[in-house]
Amino acid sequence: MRDLVQIVYVSRSTFAPMPPERGIEPSVARILAQSRINNARRGLVGALYFGDGCFFQCLEGPVAAVDGLCAALLRDPRHTDLRVLSRRAIEHTSFSAWSMKYVPLDAPMQSLLRQSGLARFDPYRFDEATVARVLDMLRNAGGLADPVQPAASRWTGRRAAWAAGLLAVALVAVAAAWMRRA
Ligand SMILES: Cc1cc2nc3c(=O)[nH]c(=O)nc-3n(C[C@H](O)[C@H](O)[C@H](O)COP(=O)(O)O)c2cc1C
Repeated sequence: MRDLVQIVYVSRSTFAPMPPERGIEPSVARILAQSRINNARRGLVGALYFGDGCFFQCLEGPVAAVDGLCAALLRDPRHTDLRVLSRRAIEHTSFSAWSMKYVPLDAPMQSLLRQSGLARFDPYRFDEATVARVLDMLRNAGGLADPVQPAASRWTGRRAAWAAGLLAVALVAVAAAWMRRA
């Protein structure tokens, strides 16, 4: 069996976050799109939360792949102050369906923070119990589908539209020819 590990870390974004009501932060959307492509290739899964300028990420997968990504994360200038909150060996991954799940969970997160006695999303102050509750919430919540449509699928979509158009024209031509003969 492969050696699997789960890592939870927090970090601070180096870009200024825009107000949450304006939707997903473009820098976060780019990180997510990049993560989904890379993680699927490397057998990694996990979840990402971004709030109040802080990231909370859970990564699960083969030890070598997780450690390789952690090394890349430490060099990534889009965030700083990376702190690993937990690292443990696991039997199975728990975010199996998601190469990187993204959950915009404002209201449930606010109530979880209140219950944990925190005024804002400051994951550096999370104790073990709060980390476990946030992970449960991320596991059980509905995730956001790809916020950045890859260029390849836009191209595929346009080609599909052209193909459908040509097929419709061909069908009309065949029907017209058939009616003329009848
Ligand atoms: C908060 C945060 C989370 C990230 N999560 C992932 C991830 O899950 N997978 C990934 O491949 N890259 C992730 N990245 C990007 C990596 O730091 C790094 O830029 C990327 O893996 C390099 O990919 P490349 O080899 O395709 O250039 C993340 C970056 C940040 C700032």
